[in-house]
Amino acid sequence: MNKIIVAPSILSADFSCLKEEIEKVENSGADWIHVDVMDGHFVPNLTIGAPVVKCIRKITTLPLDVHLMIENPEKYLDDFISAGSDIITFHYETVENPFDLISKIKEKGIKAGISIKPKTEAEAILPYINELDLVLVMTVEPGFGGQKFMNECALKIKKIRENASDNLIIEVDGGINSETAKICKDYGANALVSGNYIYKAQDTKKAIESLR
Ligand code: DX5
Ligand code: ZN
Repeated sequence: MNKIIVAPSILSADFSCLKEEIEKVENSGADWIHVDVMDGHFVPNLTIGAPVVKCIRKITTLPLDVHLMIENPEKYLDDFISAGSDIITFHYETVENPFDLISKIKEKGIKAGISIKPKTEAEAILPYINELDLVLVMTVEPGFGGQKFMNECALKIKKIRENASDNLIIEVDGGINSETAKICKDYGANALVSGNYIYKAQDTKKAIESLR
């Protein structure tokens, strides 16, 4: 397995100084910046939209890993692509025809991902894995940072890895710390999103290293 990708979630950052918060993780070894987009419908929280992604694009060279927790993701796709996203992950539960959206994302030359909520089985996304660059397994109910990791959700990583090519990035999101990261890596995950654990740490670099 290749190197483990660490993607700090800026949802746990201090938005009053977002530039410094991004620089902090960038200088501490982060691989990607994970951007949580929520619409108050698909999840019970509202966060940020494409204009903010556009601003973040100006201040970092790290890939922007955009996690769309929104209904009708196809409606906003072009906005997030032109804002400078490098990876766009939409939720399986929000679309009727995932193939359509996957090809629209890939046509623009960026990576396409699908995410599944805790109650969605791994089997649901298996038909799409050969077309995808990434699968994002949620290990909490999406909506908020700082929740407790659900091991039963992480077990889905195993099933997906067994059926996927080595090129598929399996990312995990929700309650990731040094202990839960180990469980996910053992199951076959190779990208870890982490919000609270990284942003609340005294030593950011150490926290990021401990995940790898
Ligand atoms: C939850 C988001 C996560 C979250 C992770 O809906 O998708 O990215 O911010 O935060 P932690 O690591 O604190 O669970
Ligand atoms: Zn996320």
